[in-house]
Amino acid sequence: MKILTVIGARPQFIKASVVSRAIQQADGMEEVILHTGQHFDTNMSDIFFNQLNIPRPDIQLDIHGGSHGEMTGRMLAEIEQALLAHKPDRVLVYGDTNSTLAGALAAAKLHIPVAHVEAGLRSFNMQMPEEINRILTDQISDLLFCPTDAAVKNLNNEGFAHKPVHVLQVGDVMQDSALLFAEQATAPSGDVPKGFILATLHRAENTDSPERLAAIVAAMNEVHATLAPVVLPLHPRTRKLIVQQGLELNVHLIDPVGYFEMVWLLDHCELVLTDSGGVQKEAFFFGKACVTLRDQTEWVELIQVGANELVGADQGKIINAATRNLGRKVQDTQQLYGGGKAAERIVSVLVKAST
Ligand code: UD1
Ligand code: UDP
Repeated sequence: MKILTVIGARPQFIKASVVSRAIQQADGMEEVILHTGQHFDTNMSDIFFNQLNIPRPDIQLDIHGGSHGEMTGRMLAEIEQALLAHKPDRVLVYGDTNSTLAGALAAAKLHIPVAHVEAGLRSFNMQMPEEINRILTDQISDLLFCPTDAAVKNLNNEGFAHKPVHVLQVGDVMQDSALLFAEQATAPSGDVPKGFILATLHRAENTDSPERLAAIVAAMNEVHATLAPVVLPLHPRTRKLIVQQGLELNVHLIDPVGYFEMVWLLDHCELVLTDSGGVQKEAFFFGKACVTLRDQTEWVELIQVGANELVGADQGKIINAATRNLGRKVQDTQQLYGGGKAAERIVSVLVKAST
């Protein structure tokens, strides 16, 4: 059984690390890794391959930047060539980025079955590029690995129960990664202020809207000045847009960090403030409350158990929620995300599908 895995963006390296490990341990499985090049800075890509022991990509493309259509289209053409050359039995894709959609579509057009890890998540906001990517990827996958009950429910509501595909609740691979690598937590270089809030910010709906970006920057500045120091490993997208908009972000800015440093920051912070998908769950895995800078979340169970609060890009709401949640601890009493066995479950299904 030859699996060709398509990855390209930071969260996909973290997700694939645990599944690749499980594939290596399974009998009769071979994995070919294709990196689209979507993320390319050393601290957005290489660092994860090094830290998490991900096998070097067998195929390294160099596609990044440009419009969504251009990036996705170029990936589609080049992934198709790689699929024709490597002839995999199955393509494996993760999450909801342009690399995900391009990988799934290239495979489906060649009648190669597609397995989607993180299937079924929905924000019900079609303005988000991620929502388009995940809905279309689910439509052309035949193994849909859902991380949560809510994701299974979404697919059932879309009629997947009546399709000749497999919808499986396997848990969340990001919990596997958090558990596996927690011990390797490493403080980032340089001083980290005590009692800090860990923040991340990069989603298009925030960074590409001048109003939303300005409101979030103003809120972070105020929280940093009056409540607790805000440590923000700044995504390159946000760095560019803050300069372009002439905004001043007066918090403790650092460059994007590796996963071991991120795990350390999650473990030592007093609160998480983020618009990331993955970081919302990681806050929970490390027992921290999360204030989410979005209007919807795909991880609805975190809202239901009171671990996460959605505040959008409203300056007042952000400051208020940060003040109320600072230092608040949360607990995963219901094992919402599968307890660290998702990769194992995924690979056992892949093995069965091959026989
Ligand atoms: C992408 C995903 C998003 C995901 C995020 C994870 C899509 C549509 N979006 O968003 O869902 O949450 O990855 O981080 O696929 N850049 C660099 N160096 C890098 C990477 C990016 O300078 O290593 C710059 C790019 O040149 C571009 C900008 O950052 O100008 C955005 O990169 P892009 O991959 O288009 O989208 P992300 O915002 O990273
Ligand atoms: N992350 C990291 N270094 C950073 C910021 C994030 O290792 O400087 C990790 C984070 O811990 C999580 C993943 O990257 O595992 C989340 O990726 P991101 O927020 O870029 O994307 P999203 O999850 O929103 O798609």
